[in-house]
Amino acid sequence: MELFEAIKNRRSIRDYNKTKPVSKETIEKIVEAARWAPTAGNQQPIEVVVVFDQETREKLASLSGYAPYVKDSPVALVVCVNQKKYGKRYDKAGEFFKPMDASAAIQNMMLASYGLGLGTCWDSVLNKNAIRELLNIPEFVDPFSIIALGYPSKMPENPPKRRLLEEMIHWDTY
Ligand SMILES: Cc1cc2nc3c(=O)[nH]c(=O)nc-3n(C[C@H](O)[C@H](O)[C@H](O)COP(=O)(O)O)c2cc1C
Repeated sequence: MELFEAIKNRRSIRDYNKTKPVSKETIEKIVEAARWAPTAGNQQPIEVVVVFDQETREKLASLSGYAPYVKDSPVALVVCVNQKKYGKRYDKAGEFFKPMDASAAIQNMMLASYGLGLGTCWDSVLNKNAIRELLNIPEFVDPFSIIALGYPSKMPENPPKRRLLEEMIHWDTY
């Protein structure tokens, strides 16, 4: 698939095929895309908890920001940042770089998933401590976001509107 086509046509999917499973091999390909994402100082702090278990996904759905579909997608990827990877620089630089590192990895995984025929939806995490407890995640690891993953059962009819390019670009100065 052509890269720009994937960038433009990927959509957030909220309706998943519940009977078509996603193989571990496919998930490894998707996480491989995160492995090659850029990270600040090449610290590579990203780790992913792959959740297949239905009961756990139901709990995740209730703990996440607004993602009821996580209980219906066959897989939830809990994208985490291992803060120890920032070493001594963590207090300042780590806190600053964490959302950027995680977001670059997430976007790579969402595009890779789309390229493999899968749908995803990004969900922010509100109750991090409860998710840590549920998934046995240590305190130095930040469960940053949940990504629902599965084969789509329904594609959104129209893509959500985007602002015009000329509203976004500022040449030389704002
Ligand atoms: C940081 C972030 C958090 C999001 N959280 C949610 C969410 O909680 N629930 C949801 O349904 N979609 C969520 N989305 C998906 C957005 O609603 C979606 O990307 C946007 O409407 C554009 O649609 P598209 O992804 O199909 O192009 C989130 C997206 C991002 C980047």
